[in-house]
Amino acid sequence: MFDKPLILVAGGAGYIGSHVTVELVEAGYEVLIGDNFSNCDRTCYEGVKQILGREVPLVEIDFCDRTATDNLFATYPIAAVIHFAAFKAVGESVTEPLKYYRNNLLSLLNVVESAERHGCRNILFSSSATVYGEAEVQPVTEQSPRLPATSAYGQTKQMSEDILRDVVASKGLVRGIALRYFNPIGAHPSALIGELPRGVPNNLVPYITQTAVGKRQMLSIFGGDYPTPDGTCLRDFIDVVDLARAHVAAVTRMVEDKMEQPYEIFNVGTGKPVSVMQLVEAFERVNGLKLNYKIVDRRPGDIVAIWADTSLAEQKLGWKATRTLDETLASAWAWECHLAEQK
Ligand code: WQD
Repeated sequence: MFDKPLILVAGGAGYIGSHVTVELVEAGYEVLIGDNFSNCDRTCYEGVKQILGREVPLVEIDFCDRTATDNLFATYPIAAVIHFAAFKAVGESVTEPLKYYRNNLLSLLNVVESAERHGCRNILFSSSATVYGEAEVQPVTEQSPRLPATSAYGQTKQMSEDILRDVVASKGLVRGIALRYFNPIGAHPSALIGELPRGVPNNLVPYITQTAVGKRQMLSIFGGDYPTPDGTCLRDFIDVVDLARAHVAAVTRMVEDKMEQPYEIFNVGTGKPVSVMQLVEAFERVNGLKLNYKIVDRRPGDIVAIWADTSLAEQKLGWKATRTLDETLASAWAWECHLAEQK
């Protein structure tokens, strides 16, 4: 039924999952999307179809449903699974921790258990730089200590990494790669898929684009008195298409049997720190507009600075970020404009 290796993208209708789907298909893989649209609508799924000029098979499934997940792995010859099906709002995870522990952990347990049972050897997990917390030494390497998480969301990322590591070590039936994303931003160059937060955005770039388009009145820059060159926080903003290509490289390493260890971890960032203020100014310059913003108090829980050492991904995955910050910020704005035109 499938001529090429079939990759299950669990949560493939979401922001990162949809970009990964496009890159996988363009790299020659077959993709099966599993999603229950609980945290996204069909916009990106439709966008993927338009970009590729064909439909990508979709199974509507809740990966918290153990039987349904098992049936899926029993039905399809899945060569690798990429697991994105999780909630990701840090603040909400603090007020509703059970929702996060239940959804993010149960879905992972079901996916890993079914993969193991049905002979799917390769599991790629979407982890986060949040596992490093406020690291003392920058840039962080994969060997940097994981600090105690400050949110249930962060806890689920650490616990999920550990679950995968332990299962891989137990029977040797599966192997795993965890990709630790820094701050994913931007959209596909076609402007047909991108980030679509529900309600008021928590993350910086969607807040910027929504302010620029007039959906929000003003951007609050949280903190101008940090011990950084311009007083605002430093982050490693990684373009979502570059990020998606890191997944293709990681999947290829797995299905072509090139892993050196059965469980591997890679940072996925640019390796370059950019301040919040630099990002805002670059957005204004690249898109030729003025943003209404104000520096306000610090946001509780924010870390001052984090950026990636990306040498391991460069060496082992042959992957490196290629899109410039300007290109990325232009794509984020094009996507917001595309959304505005749809209304
Ligand atoms: C970036 C910087 C804010 C909004 C979080 C998660 C992480 C990952 C990505 C995702 C900070 C500042 C933001 C605003 C601002 N998870 N900011 N005004 O906090 O680095 O990382 O998202 O799924 O795990 O922790 O990202 O985009 O929220 O903030 O000034 O309106 O922008 O203070 O310095 P963060 P962010």
